[in-house]
Amino acid sequence: MKTKEVVVIGAGVVGLTTAITIQEKGGYNVTIIAETWPNDAKTVKYTSFWAGAAHGCYRGPDEKLRKVREDTFKVMWELSAPGGPAEGCFNRTTVHGFYYDGLGQYADNMPNLKQIPESELRMGAKAGYSFRSYIIDPPIYLNYLLSRFIASGGHIVRGTVQHISQVIEGGVGIWVNGKPSVAPETLVICNGLGAKTLGGVEDAEVYPNRGQNVIIHAPWVGDAMMLTSPEPNVDTYIFPRRNGDVVLGTVRVPYDWYPVARPETTTQILERCLALCPELAPPEIRAQRAPTIDDLRPLIVEVTCGLRPMRVGGIRMEVNWIDGRENGSRIPMLLNYGYGPSGYEPSWASAQAVLGMLEEALSNGRG
Ligand SMILES: Cc1cc2nc3c(=O)[nH]c(=O)nc-3n(C[C@H](O)[C@H](O)[C@H](O)COP(=O)(O)OP(=O)(O)OC[C@H]3O[C@@H](n4cnc5c(N)ncnc54)[C@H](O)[C@@H]3O)c2cc1C
Ligand SMILES: *[C@@H]1O[C@H](CO)[C@@H](O)[C@H](O)[C@H]1NC(C)=O
Ligand SMILES: *[C@@H]1O[C@H](CO)[C@@H](O)[C@H](O)[C@H]1NC(C)=O
Ligand SMILES: *[C@@H]1O[C@H](CO)[C@@H](O)[C@H](O)[C@H]1NC(C)=O
Repeated sequence: MKTKEVVVIGAGVVGLTTAITIQEKGGYNVTIIAETWPNDAKTVKYTSFWAGAAHGCYRGPDEKLRKVREDTFKVMWELSAPGGPAEGCFNRTTVHGFYYDGLGQYADNMPNLKQIPESELRMGAKAGYSFRSYIIDPPIYLNYLLSRFIASGGHIVRGTVQHISQVIEGGVGIWVNGKPSVAPETLVICNGLGAKTLGGVEDAEVYPNRGQNVIIHAPWVGDAMMLTSPEPNVDTYIFPRRNGDVVLGTVRVPYDWYPVARPETTTQILERCLALCPELAPPEIRAQRAPTIDDLRPLIVEVTCGLRPMRVGGIRMEVNWIDGRENGSRIPMLLNYGYGPSGYEPSWASAQAVLGMLEEALSNGRG
């Protein structure tokens, strides 16, 4: 059977997960082309590297989103199982979620979901849930995804695409040796913030939301915590990774493109996180006196900064039919970007949905 040529643009968590899902389905020869990859020098252009990253408890009313998150959680819960295929990418832990505005009407059905008793609420929170989940270590997990993609027969090419027509007409060969290769039957766009400027997509609704996190080494911290805030641009969280590093977050500033850490933001994050979780300070200090943020500063491993790929109107997942062949035929282009603050949490079920749309487009063929 002849395989169908698929080119995916983008190698963040969205592109890698989508490419794996299509490649592992069988019948497709998937190639990812991307400017940045998991092991490149650190760059703000690659948001996936900078995520926290947790799977939290969704409390909103959007049933479709809830389903996508739940289906993805099931996949990653299996991956993170002791002895499981990707155990080392995750730290399974208890998460304590504190909410300033009460429980809300809904909650995801997380393992061990329990309401936190009033006496255990922190920082003036009105209510809270504790539940079991996992903290993802993005640099390790992204490498797992990349190696799984290659092991399943996928191809990778480094390159910056200026306009989709370059790939549609010439295939990825142009970036390999400057010569055209077999033209793809379909194109899948998973390029995050890049969708704002990629020719042929140029989505004006795409914008950044800047995050800054502080990573400390504090292996004595066991549980994860989150605290919502009525203040705009602020969210407090503590995510212990498997290697003993603990991610302290965060800010959420729309339209802010500043690509490196701001020292005053670092101070604010340390203050908020220590107030929520005094257990961050070394146990020997806590045994003697109340800790201050100066007790945390020597533990800092890295201060990070990432631009969440937002989109007015939310995630864009749709098929567009594109001209561009000399013979006038058209090909389907699947758009799959705009994941903003949660690219990991819906990743596997979103990829499955994209595969479904791709199969339908190719079998109905409006080309
Ligand atoms: C501080 C912070 C904390 C976060 N915490 C969480 C969390 O706890 N849980 C969660 O689910 N999410 C979290 N996120 C959000 C998550 O990181 C993003 O939603 C996700 O990484 C988006 O992935 P992506 O693949 O769309 O984009 P990216 O990772 O940015 O990847 C884009 C890819 O497209 C490529 N590309 C772009 N343009 C072109 C072009 N023209 N030619 C070739 N290649 C191109 C890039 O090189 C790259 O490979 C967090 C984000 C931040 C910043
Ligand atoms: C799959 O695509 C790659 C290029 O990305 C190409 O080198 C290879 O020949 C293709 N394989 C098949 C079976 O078409
Ligand atoms: C989870 O994270 C904590 C803090 O970093 C660490 O001490 C613990 O060993 C981790 N758990 C596992 C199973 O790796
Ligand atoms: C048009 O060209 C493309 C790629 O060159 C090819 O795959 C397709 O089959 C052609 N369509 C027709 C109707 O000839």
